[in-house]
Amino acid sequence: MVEIPVTEYGGWRELSKRLVVKVLSRTLYNVINYRVSVDVAFKRACKNICKLSLDEREALYVMARDFISDYVRVRCFLGSGKSYSSYVRAWVDGSVSDENLPEWCKYGVSRWFYEKLSKLVGEEVHELLRSLGRRVLWARINTLRASEEKVLRSLSQEGVDYVIDPDYPYLIQIIKSPKPVRLLNAVRNYELVLQDKASVAVVEALNPRPGDSILDMAFAPGMKTSLIMSLTDNKAKVVALDISYKRSLLGRQLLEKLGVDLSRVQVVVSDSRNIQLRGSFDKVLLDAPCSNSGAIPKDPGLKITLTESKVAYYSAIQKELIIKSTKLGKTIVYSTCSLMPEEGEEVANTVSESVRFYRPIRWAAEGYKSYDHYSDFMRLYPHKHLTEGFFICCMVSKDL
Ligand SMILES: C[S@@+](CC[C@H](N)C(=O)[O-])C[C@H]1O[C@@H](n2cnc3c(N)ncnc32)[C@H](O)[C@@H]1O
Repeated sequence: MVEIPVTEYGGWRELSKRLVVKVLSRTLYNVINYRVSVDVAFKRACKNICKLSLDEREALYVMARDFISDYVRVRCFLGSGKSYSSYVRAWVDGSVSDENLPEWCKYGVSRWFYEKLSKLVGEEVHELLRSLGRRVLWARINTLRASEEKVLRSLSQEGVDYVIDPDYPYLIQIIKSPKPVRLLNAVRNYELVLQDKASVAVVEALNPRPGDSILDMAFAPGMKTSLIMSLTDNKAKVVALDISYKRSLLGRQLLEKLGVDLSRVQVVVSDSRNIQLRGSFDKVLLDAPCSNSGAIPKDPGLKITLTESKVAYYSAIQKELIIKSTKLGKTIVYSTCSLMPEEGEEVANTVSESVRFYRPIRWAAEGYKSYDHYSDFMRLYPHKHLTEGFFICCMVSKDL
């Protein structure tokens, strides 16, 4: 048997070691071979073999996340080429030691990632990498579905410990919950939406107002579009584009569940790099596809699957998208959930001649200092702001 800490609730659960090794090995297999998130990998790994109570399953899930977050360290210790289950066994037995391991191994990240971040933030890299291993849970009250009072009352009744955010009063940080957050009544009723503070900050930077016409160039699954509609009391008009049919469909369904007035949101499946639209918009949101390095706290599988070529691939798309954005609306907000300057400062600087940058998020850090215009950009970090890692850049187009 293995004793597993259930971090969200406190307390321990006992599970058979055989099952733990099997599920963790399968999770690792799915992350490495199918490049899926830990959540998807765990679901697949558990299929047909996890005949467990809710508590036990949750405990196993927490353990799978921790193992995946630590996998590179375990591989450094044991060496490459071992079976998935030998890595898991060594980790479960606690026989992995940091002695003589290089720094990047200790943090469970690739060498290139460690060296790159070290160059960008210097000594702060240690704090930053440590913070990538902790997930802070943020949730916003969906005022399209319920009042703030109602949601807070419901959370208190369910015994949830939370703190209201000082920057955005409809946002809370969940400190402790007696059950998995996704099972709370307010979450199940779409009155409370799990959304990181950085994602909320992006929409706040756009400053949507009732009556605004807004183009969301990469909207799916619609977390930011729905906040736009919530902040404007369903009175903005949004054209929501996305290249993926499947994600657009899911996004549309989510918007409906969240109480968004769909007569005011036009969902269009299209490649925003080539979109031809008549007229221009008051505001444009470009929450671009990216390598997701800033989302490691949410999905530790990214520590394994993130590659330099992925960063380069997305950077090229982002540059095409940002150039297009300056022709579609006067005020533009560009964001990526990435710690990489190739997806942030470098992309923003490709349009620096045709825009004026501005900086509405006062509490954000500046961009990386080795890049032009760095003080005009905003970066949010897990170790400084308790958010995912985000790059945000606000611009006024001179082309229109
Ligand atoms: C970071 S996600 C957007 C998240 C979304 N804004 C939200 O808050 O829920 C990036 C999205 O960009 C879409 N995408 C990728 N390339 C695109 C393109 N060329 N044109 C439009 N959408 C694109 C992807 O399908 C993905 O849904």
